[in-house]
Amino acid sequence: VCRGIGEFRTALAERLAAVPGEASLGLVPTMGALHEGHAHLVRLAREENAVVAVSVFVNPLQFGPDEDLERYPRTLEADLELLARCGADLVFAPAVEQMYPDGEPLVRVTAGPLGAVLDGASRPGHFDGALTVVNKLLNITAPPGPVPFRAYFGEKDAQQLLLVRRMVADFDLPVTVRPVPIVRDADGLALSSRNRYLDAGQRHAALVLPATLRALAAGELDLDAARARIDAEDQVRLDYLVVVDPRTLAPVAPAPGTLALVAAHVGSTRLIDNLAL
Ligand code: PAJ
Repeated sequence: VCRGIGEFRTALAERLAAVPGEASLGLVPTMGALHEGHAHLVRLAREENAVVAVSVFVNPLQFGPDEDLERYPRTLEADLELLARCGADLVFAPAVEQMYPDGEPLVRVTAGPLGAVLDGASRPGHFDGALTVVNKLLNITAPPGPVPFRAYFGEKDAQQLLLVRRMVADFDLPVTVRPVPIVRDADGLALSSRNRYLDAGQRHAALVLPATLRALAAGELDLDAARARIDAEDQVRLDYLVVVDPRTLAPVAPAPGTLALVAAHVGSTRLIDNLAL
């Protein structure tokens, strides 16, 4: 477990040197409060790489002033146990001062138009903050020389995944982005660190989100009826339910190859989910 950048790079170099000829690195960026969804990313990274690193950092830059930065769950001890079980080699868990020694950075990544819609419209600056820290994490952890470098991102955060891919392409970052399918609980709710904010009634109400996505995908509901179904759920306040072209996020008619995206507040907890149609 490394707190410092230099410390991490030294530990990484040692690990890579121990697997000469077959060195490769898989990075899984996270904000901690790890669950089985994160575990899935780490296991895939484990299968595909000689060395697996996980970053655990609650990035203040991607939280809005009225969001849950202060109360975001911080569970490093439990996170480390889960990561050990999944076979991670290295954990980079910096303090905020390590990542932002001069306070908030003056130069940032701008997510552009794809970062201004949907979650970006509801959370101004969120994707600039997320891409800025992902850019930093990729630079901090990048292996030296020609060592293959893969970074793992969940399809749960579909807009984030798209934007990371765009950033990697647009900035020629020497990393391969590996998408990982959404991991759900047995009842269908997508796993999220924020699910632990939900009480039993809210958790039950939240099931309307995956249920409605499934009904859309099955063609049982059109968009208006799907929105009405979510609106009818007492404790759920819909932010958006849209069907988009997954490359441009432009709204389109539901059809094979399109993506349904939903965001809603359940109590004070904001949840997102999506399903490929
Ligand atoms: P965090 O919310 O901790 O998520 C870390 C990674 O786990 C993301 O790529 C996310 O999509 C993935 N993930 C979360 N829940 C998942 C689920 N149920 N199924 C599959 N994958 C899931 O996303 C972030 O952190 C941050 O924005 C970060 C990229 C680390 C930058 O700060």
